[in-house]
Amino acid sequence: GKVGIIGVPFEKGQRKGGVALAPDVIRSAGLLDELKSLGLDVRDYGNVEYDPSDISVDNMSHLGHVAGCTQRLSEMVQCVLQDGRNILTIGGDHSIGIGTIDGHVKTNKNIAILWIDAHADLNTNKTSESGNVHGMPVALLTSELADYWPYLPGMDWQQPMLSIRNVAYIGLRSVDRYERLVIEKFGITAFGMEDVERFGIHRVIHMALKKIDPDNNKSLHVSFDIDSLDPLEAPSTGTPVRGGLSLREGIHAMEELYRTCRLNAVDLVEVNPKIGDQKSIDLTVSAAIHIIQAGFGYTRRGLKVPEGVTD
Ligand code: ARG
Ligand code: MN
Ligand code: MN
Ligand code: MN
Repeated sequence: GKVGIIGVPFEKGQRKGGVALAPDVIRSAGLLDELKSLGLDVRDYGNVEYDPSDISVDNMSHLGHVAGCTQRLSEMVQCVLQDGRNILTIGGDHSIGIGTIDGHVKTNKNIAILWIDAHADLNTNKTSESGNVHGMPVALLTSELADYWPYLPGMDWQQPMLSIRNVAYIGLRSVDRYERLVIEKFGITAFGMEDVERFGIHRVIHMALKKIDPDNNKSLHVSFDIDSLDPLEAPSTGTPVRGGLSLREGIHAMEELYRTCRLNAVDLVEVNPKIGDQKSIDLTVSAAIHIIQAGFGYTRRGLKVPEGVTD
């Protein structure tokens, strides 16, 4: 397999400094060697650089930066996929999902998204209580939500090409009131922590895939917010919520998705190496690397995926 890595040192989708350091901190912790040891042909495309535009929209903090960064990121994602590589994007805050998913869907219209997160990131500028764009990417990407937005200068390059029917949430436990209404109105596939407890992560993943990829033919994209994990295991993140996925559940989810042979894009976002003491930071970075490895073929049974194991 061939993998391309893009770093996105971007933190203007929220208000805490430090998330922009994550791509280089995660690289320094040995990410590339870990991926190469899986037998992958790894190419690092470096970090995104962009020109911010000078625009502003009500209750969307730093939209000019978000727009500039995600436009460039989308173009880079399209290049990497056209080079025949799967893509790993390291954020940065979750607003960068606008760019990675836009780039993926422009390359292949037949995609499905697993949004693994404590939060739904489904606000618009009219419903957000924070004005932080990292709480809005899913609403920007999906066609069903298009009517709920005003005209957004600087975002003309981005068309909502994705149907909300092709998105599944896993790990939810902090959903705003309006986000809950939208989930219900559109019947969005959403597995919260109580579903993980009831069914187990294995069945949750397969139930999610059955909903968003019933014919097993879509190009899969995981947008993994590190705050989906329990803060005891991944404390260094800006909006932690207690009672989350264990690292084991996160790894299991990624292993199962890898085994579809259609996991072509992974985002790993919201690691903040400026939050907490060194031990917290090390725990969070190593959790992120474990999640990534599992998504690119590391299995705890050994390096090779065993044949004939189907459940
Ligand atoms: N729902 C809250 C908001 O709109 C929190 C979003 C947190 N998002 C994230 N990607 N960590 O601001
Ligand atoms: Mn998120
Ligand atoms: Mn989150
Ligand atoms: Mn299993």
